[in-house]
Amino acid sequence: MFKDKLKHLRESAGFTQKELAEKIYVSRSAINKWELGNGIPSDVNLDAICKLFNVSEEWLLDRNDLKIFAKKIEKLLSQKEKDYILEYYSEFNNEECGKWNTSLKAKWYDYKTTEYFEENFNFKESKTICNIGIGPGHWDRYLSYHMNDECKLISIDIDSDITETFRLCLENEENKRNIEIVNSDIFEYIPSHKFDIITMIGSTVKEIGLYKEAFKKAISMLNDNGELFYSSVTKEETIDLLLSAINDTGHVVNNYQRLEKYGKVLILAKIMKE
Ligand SMILES: C[S@@+](CC[C@H](N)C(=O)[O-])C[C@H]1O[C@@H](n2cnc3c(N)ncnc32)[C@H](O)[C@@H]1O
Repeated sequence: MFKDKLKHLRESAGFTQKELAEKIYVSRSAINKWELGNGIPSDVNLDAICKLFNVSEEWLLDRNDLKIFAKKIEKLLSQKEKDYILEYYSEFNNEECGKWNTSLKAKWYDYKTTEYFEENFNFKESKTICNIGIGPGHWDRYLSYHMNDECKLISIDIDSDITETFRLCLENEENKRNIEIVNSDIFEYIPSHKFDIITMIGSTVKEIGLYKEAFKKAISMLNDNGELFYSSVTKEETIDLLLSAINDTGHVVNNYQRLEKYGKVLILAKIMKE
């Protein structure tokens, strides 16, 4: 991020904050503020830093900076935002993904997943929902548009490109629902409250890689009446595997469906307190 890069450049050149400030004609407190991540230089000062250390603006500011410095670098930001959003949307229809995204199989997955969720979960009354694993963000968007007005959604993903792109897309869509995006490994995430509903769907648990641990963590984040929505597209999975994963958590599989169509498998499960 900009703040780390600036500090690294300054220290590598052997400058104190005061010395750097003098070289680019700003106050020492401005340098300190930038290194703490509390602001970004104006275009003129950014230019001066780039010239002094012989680095490019592109290198100095990365994707995470755009989020923090949005207002101050409007010109740069808006161009980059547009690029990311365009890139993101065009990926849906490129040669590789388009075939899948527009296929009957993909529509079938989406339809069955939402149908199961709406039939089995108390989501209209939920106040707090958490989705683990954002991926392309369709599911998080679906949740945000269907949850009730007082509900808050927390969307978590380990990948900062995913969380940032998701943020930009929500902004682009002017999605005003109450959504907090958290960029964290689920195992490091400490929620400030427990959830009414947690969802871990699609290939999320497979990508997390730690099957039993993923369920333990998700269940630990549920409140007393909390419900966990788990779905999987892994053919080899069985209900026994799921039961053994939640075996000592005090939770049970309340409902389990294994659907097969178009040569694909979709497992849908509701897990809640015994
Ligand atoms: C394929 S996506 C799931 C997308 C969405 N749930 C769906 O089905 O449309 C899986 C996501 O899980 C995220 N992920 C993988 N390991 C994770 C971890 N340890 N903590 C949080 N997120 C993780 C990945 O970055 C990826 O975006």
